[in-house]
Amino acid sequence: MIVLPISKLQVMKILGIETSCDETAAAVVENGIRVHSNVIASSLDLHTKTGGVVPEVAAREHIKQITPVIDQALDEAGVNWDEIDALAVTFAPGLVSSLLVGVNTAQALAYIQQKPLVPVHHIAGHIYANFLEREELVQFPILVLTVSGGHNELILLKGHHEFEQIGETLDDAAGEAFDKVARMLNLGYPGGPIISKRAEKGNPEAFLFPRPMLDKNNQFNFSFSGLKSAVLREVQKLQSSSDEVVNDLAASFQEAITDVLADKLVLAAKEFKPKEVHLAGGVSANQHLRKKVTERLSGIAPLHMPKKLIYCTDNAAMIAGAAYFQVQKRGLKKWDKVEVHSQAPL
Ligand code: KG4
Ligand code: ZN
Repeated sequence: MIVLPISKLQVMKILGIETSCDETAAAVVENGIRVHSNVIASSLDLHTKTGGVVPEVAAREHIKQITPVIDQALDEAGVNWDEIDALAVTFAPGLVSSLLVGVNTAQALAYIQQKPLVPVHHIAGHIYANFLEREELVQFPILVLTVSGGHNELILLKGHHEFEQIGETLDDAAGEAFDKVARMLNLGYPGGPIISKRAEKGNPEAFLFPRPMLDKNNQFNFSFSGLKSAVLREVQKLQSSSDEVVNDLAASFQEAITDVLADKLVLAAKEFKPKEVHLAGGVSANQHLRKKVTERLSGIAPLHMPKKLIYCTDNAAMIAGAAYFQVQKRGLKKWDKVEVHSQAPL
């Protein structure tokens, strides 16, 4: 294994590849910040019919999409292979059959093009989505609420790629709860954007759902199964589900879940006194959550959210971005064996 000297790595264009779930994505990012291209092909339409991602269907779509998506990312960035300094790929966590398509493709390309390959943890990618297009100076420690369909964590970023997990979900992730509630209400998949749209027309006080804050030992952990069951009980009691009732249920659920996310984040900000607070992951696209967190953190810590909504949900720019800072911290191994894992510590 050869470790290249960091000094040679100051200006780097990295081609990132992300296939951990149902998005096939490739992007070219310079120095972890400047996004030259960010291409995403989604197999969402196929999963809407089944109300969730079917792993084999997602993997088959990745195989169809991966080569054209990478070509397009290079094309839109206006670069050829000679200008790419390294490849980066998501190795975990995610659907193994989906991850394998990205990793296999990245390894083959790295071998053919004789480029180093950087394996990136998906949650590190979400965290580094906040650095894309960032112009302001970064101040550590940073408290990050990263909240998606597959994960829901409070992370203290003490320096680049120095992660300390201070909280996690004990059952469902918030995005998963959005998806499950949408399924109960027959609204389709993914649930987050649909619930938030329906919530705009609903009354958030129509139903009083629990805001599980947990005991002192779990004050930075989350649990959404009780909230999900409470929504299910109301749905089962309904004689008929008019548009109005569905809107009210969506608004009341969104109010409860965003209260928990925002309150825990504020609690952690008061305890750990970070220099910055970041929101990341698919659920950070939720406008109601963004507004609530902005209000509640005012006067406590400066808040950053991904500069574009497209950087909240799965994309490859965040993988290329995280890879750059990973290389700055740990160096660049010429040949890195990449193992795929459905779960792996950050
Ligand atoms: O980060 P992401 O694309 O994939 C995972 O890593 O899981 O996040 C997808 C999740 C889904 O559960 C989706 O319902 C949720 O993020 N999501 C939202 C919104 N947009 C996406 N949840 C609430 N409000 C939204 N606007
Ligand atoms: Zn994700």
